[in-house]
Amino acid sequence: MDEQRTPVSSAVISERFLKDSEERYSPRAEDTTCVSQRPVKIALRKVSKEFRTADRGTFVALREIEAEIGDGEFVALIGPSGGGKTTLLNVVAGLTPPTGGQVLVDGRPVRRPGPDRGVVFQQDALFMWRRVIKNVEYGLEIRNVPKDQRQQTAMDYLRMVGLEKFADFYPKQLSGGMKKRVQIATVFANNPEVLLMDEPFGALDYPTKVDLQEQLLTLWARDAKTSLFVTHDMEEALFLADRVFVLVDGKLETILNVPFGRPRAHDLRMSQDFHALKLQLWNYMR
Ligand SMILES: Nc1ncnc2c1ncn2[C@@H]1O[C@H](COP(=O)(O)OP(=O)(O)O)[C@@H](O)[C@H]1O
Ligand SMILES: [Mg+2]
Repeated sequence: MDEQRTPVSSAVISERFLKDSEERYSPRAEDTTCVSQRPVKIALRKVSKEFRTADRGTFVALREIEAEIGDGEFVALIGPSGGGKTTLLNVVAGLTPPTGGQVLVDGRPVRRPGPDRGVVFQQDALFMWRRVIKNVEYGLEIRNVPKDQRQQTAMDYLRMVGLEKFADFYPKQLSGGMKKRVQIATVFANNPEVLLMDEPFGALDYPTKVDLQEQLLTLWARDAKTSLFVTHDMEEALFLADRVFVLVDGKLETILNVPFGRPRAHDLRMSQDFHALKLQLWNYMR
């Protein structure tokens, strides 16, 4: 016999969902050391960054950021412009030293950039004079990977981002979204353990962005890379991440857990639960 169910309005479901996500997943602002169940890959230990400026004196861009990122976890770093997202990513990348605290990757302090951490910036970082495939091969070339092998790897990743037919093109012959795909193929071909991305899709139109987010998740799931992804787009953060770090005025305001299963389908973005979480995130961002 079919069980009779009382219809529940989506508003009620969302309310329950929000309550659940608050209680089970969302630590309070003061509980920012909370970690995923996975082993720690990146540890931020009271990371601070001060800039000395001519006009503003000493400016504090990061205030004792304390958090951990699990092995293979996808963390989105979100917050208003000027909140310190790029600064934090650069510290993890080893591009700029912290003025207080430290970043550990696999328990070792970060002192400089390294091949274990691949970085994707918002602006296109391609060699315009090299063909697409030679761009993707670049990091492998530097590490003296034999020609056949690096071509094979580069083609594999170009295929995964749907660009195998464009291997012999030059970057200027590609659209913005395609160039971004080349960058993603390049960073994955280098096989770093950690992926650091600073608003990589910030300049793209919505459908292209959505497409690239899905491709990124497919690659991420396949290669299990620990990822730190900077964005100011709430939908992007919630669609991609396992957890969302909210950075406001250099302070880690809260860490939000994203309870949606994977793989994530496009229509998740349209769901009540998604919107409920977005509202919660918005309240922390303001
Ligand atoms: N090299 C620098 N010298 C002085 N101030 C800086 C420098 N880099 C960043 N800042 C300041 O630090 C703050 C955070 O910047 P940033 O990390 O770029 O923020 P976000 O990426 O969140 O927009 C901003 O107020 C910015 O002006
Ligand atoms: Mg920035």
